[in-house]
Amino acid sequence: FDTTNREKFRPIYHHTPAYGWMNDPNGMFYKDGVWHLYYQYNPFGSQWENMNWAHSTSTDLMHWTYQGEAIQPDALGTIFSGSCVVDKDNTAGFGKDAVIAFYTSAGAAQTQSIAYSTDNGKTFKKYVDNPIITSDVPDFRDPNVFWHEDTKQWILILAAGQQMNIYSSKNLKDWKYESNFGEGYGNHGGVWECPDLLKVGDKWVLICNINPGGPFGGSATQYFVGTFDGHKFTCASKPEVTKWMDYGKDHYATVSFSNAPDGRIVVLPWMSNWQYANQVPTQQFRSANGLPREMGLFNYNGEDYVTIKPSPEVFAAFEQKPSGRLQAATWLEVTNIKNNASIVLSNDKGEKVTMVYDGKAGTFSMDRNESGLSDFNNDFKAKTVAPTYGAVKALNIFVDRSSIEAFDADGKLSMTNLVFPTKPYDNVIAKGCKVKIHALKQ
Ligand code: FRU
Repeated sequence: FDTTNREKFRPIYHHTPAYGWMNDPNGMFYKDGVWHLYYQYNPFGSQWENMNWAHSTSTDLMHWTYQGEAIQPDALGTIFSGSCVVDKDNTAGFGKDAVIAFYTSAGAAQTQSIAYSTDNGKTFKKYVDNPIITSDVPDFRDPNVFWHEDTKQWILILAAGQQMNIYSSKNLKDWKYESNFGEGYGNHGGVWECPDLLKVGDKWVLICNINPGGPFGGSATQYFVGTFDGHKFTCASKPEVTKWMDYGKDHYATVSFSNAPDGRIVVLPWMSNWQYANQVPTQQFRSANGLPREMGLFNYNGEDYVTIKPSPEVFAAFEQKPSGRLQAATWLEVTNIKNNASIVLSNDKGEKVTMVYDGKAGTFSMDRNESGLSDFNNDFKAKTVAPTYGAVKALNIFVDRSSIEAFDADGKLSMTNLVFPTKPYDNVIAKGCKVKIHALKQ
């Protein structure tokens, strides 16, 4: 426990680097009871520069231990985002159960490279024949790899300008171009980045992070639901349909853990926005991850949407507080929700966040215009609004020192927003609903 770095906006229960800058989660995988999280990291300062992959591990997705830098820049460039797989059958020849990382070498061009680990992701060796995929497209990055059982091959998806390219391989080293997806589909207000392609039930979800172009400005996560036959992703919706995974301003670069147990689909966002990530009022570190979430699907009026719920480990980290006082680290369990319910969190500095469920309009909103510090960037002040796709019966709202995440208990909405109150909110006024307060277990 490091007492020298207790900045006032440092989260109490969200993953964050002790020092330095962090952006995208990278290369996440689960193996032998341990969750591994790598991330875009600048060890030398708290602004974006000098990208490395740093490494943290956890056995419960909530308490993280820093493991040092895992992959460092080389002659091909700095180390941009990517993914890991566990090579159980030694298809690449780096060893049975080797952990293989795919990342973008960001040098004069953006190319894709491999590094492998034979000590469970602690240290990596770079593959001698890097790079493994090259292109003339300037924004060509963020490879995400998974095993496709039906065709018995590895699939790699990466962002290429404003589309996603799909490749296949038998040995993780030699890749064959298969197809692309994106033209004419969804939102194209920015560069497509950080893809993921996941089997959810009998459907496939293609995650596409985009910057800018988000529903409230800046970066956000859109997704497409459809089919994937091992060669091509086909979207089931009309091209003009845009679906957002989260309706806050601070949910980006979200991808899933590889090899997660029990068929779980666990995703993790970077909890910031490129509009102001470099300017948020922290000093020795910048950025945290949002809470780990589980993904599923639901259907509303003929369209499939993803459900997003906090992972069970999140709930297990809290206990109900008999005194019921709002604390800096709180889970608010909201039930008995009426059509015009509101929840206001505030402190005695006049800083507040107002959340409103409007059952008639079918919306949930969070207003952070007066939430605390906001003058570091003109794009910070915001009121974010989500469609609820039917009635909201219960909400789970997680408050930390500099974030609020609201989830519909049925998974139909999530909203992730940063806030910088100069004093923690210690008062909650709930109308048209019941609120139970849970505090973090000591
Ligand atoms: C997304 C991103 C990625 C890139 C990384 C660089 O936030 O721009 O596309 O790999 O950040 O740090």
